Amino acid sequence: MAQARVRLTPAGRTPAATFLSGSNPRPAHLTFFPKLTPTSLSAAAAANAPPPHIVVVGSANADIYVEVDRLPLIGETVAARAGRSLAGGKGANQAACGGRLALGPTYLVARVGDDANGRLLEGALADAGGVRTDRVARAADAPSGHAVVMLMPDGQNSIIIVGGANMEGWAAGIGSEDLELIRKAGVLLLQREIPDWVNAQAAQAAKSAGVPVIMDAGGMDTPLPRELLSLVDIFSPNETELARLTGMPTETFEQISMAAGKCHKMGVQEVLVKLGSQGSALFVEGEEPIRQPIVPATEVIDTTGAGDTFTSAFAVALVEGKPKRECMRFAAAAASLCVRVKGAIPSMPDRKSVMKLLESVGVE
Ligand SMILES: Nc1ncnc2c1ncn2[C@@H]1O[C@H](COP(=O)(O)OP(=O)(O)O)[C@@H](O)[C@H]1O
Ligand SMILES: [Mg+2]
Repeated sequence: MAQARVRLTPAGRTPAATFLSGSNPRPAHLTFFPKLTPTSLSAAAAANAPPPHIVVVGSANADIYVEVDRLPLIGETVAARAGRSLAGGKGANQAACGGRLALGPTYLVARVGDDANGRLLEGALADAGGVRTDRVARAADAPSGHAVVMLMPDGQNSIIIVGGANMEGWAAGIGSEDLELIRKAGVLLLQREIPDWVNAQAAQAAKSAGVPVIMDAGGMDTPLPRELLSLVDIFSPNETELARLTGMPTETFEQISMAAGKCHKMGVQEVLVKLGSQGSALFVEGEEPIRQPIVPATEVIDTTGAGDTFTSAFAVALVEGKPKRECMRFAAAAASLCVRVKGAIPSMPDRKSVMKLLESVGVE
């Protein structure tokens, strides 16, 4: 507070003075001091401070990859050619991406088990850089979420998922401290790998405090409860998820527009559709859609995590107050860098690389 007063000299056009005077400047020495309020002071301070924190509520999963020539038959044991365990889960992926890209902190609210996979996940998130993991709690009675991904030589895969703590670790729900963190956030990011009721609890807290809610549609393909959708500001499916949720075809842009229109009717005003190599499109109810082509990648190595990178990078730009079109460009550049590297979390770019890529491709 002392600092703000010092900076408010009559002649000054500091961010605080600009904020207080608005578009109709008044003589500062007459009106500024009596009009200071806690809100205006914090807004003034915010002009120089990093953007508010991002909260991701979602899954953390240990993904066990095994490379096999074929799937085992019943009763058979086959030897894998190779195997490794990597941190994944859409919540962890999106938090890792936020951690790399955001100027302010990114918190992950998640549940892991009190087991080796839980420690693997905590370690990987710490190594990813920038993620606040102190809200990742260990559930006493459930294993960490994990998946066995069987990779075949022809590129096909078969996956078995154990929901574990992601599904059963929430006990009575999100704790009061975490709800408070959500209420103070710049944006809340959700996906569908934890129970809908937990997402609804998080979204409700955000909504009550005017915090924008972005929901990535990836995860469970059960119908999305309308009460949950109505708490979401920006809903982000890929073309397949959009088709599944609306029961409509999404092969052409026309069809995608119609399906996004159905989402509007279902209660969500903004639909951010990810279209793979076709880029993305934002449908805001009552407005012309905004289309964003891909930022071409020099070489596409692995698109795993591209969707998570896109949604999370969009949230990062949104929290900085960037217009939606710019958020989409930032997200497309981040996702373009992601598809050039193998894996999900290991492939997520840092802010400097995204800015450099954006600079090199120029504005539209
Ligand atoms: N081949 C590619 N080259 C460059 N960017 C890509 C490519 N494929 C996907 N992307 C980017 O990643 C984003 C998300 O990928 P997408 O496949 O749509 O998501 P999901 O993984 O959810 O299916 C796209 O909107 C696009 O910006
Ligand atoms: Mg896709």
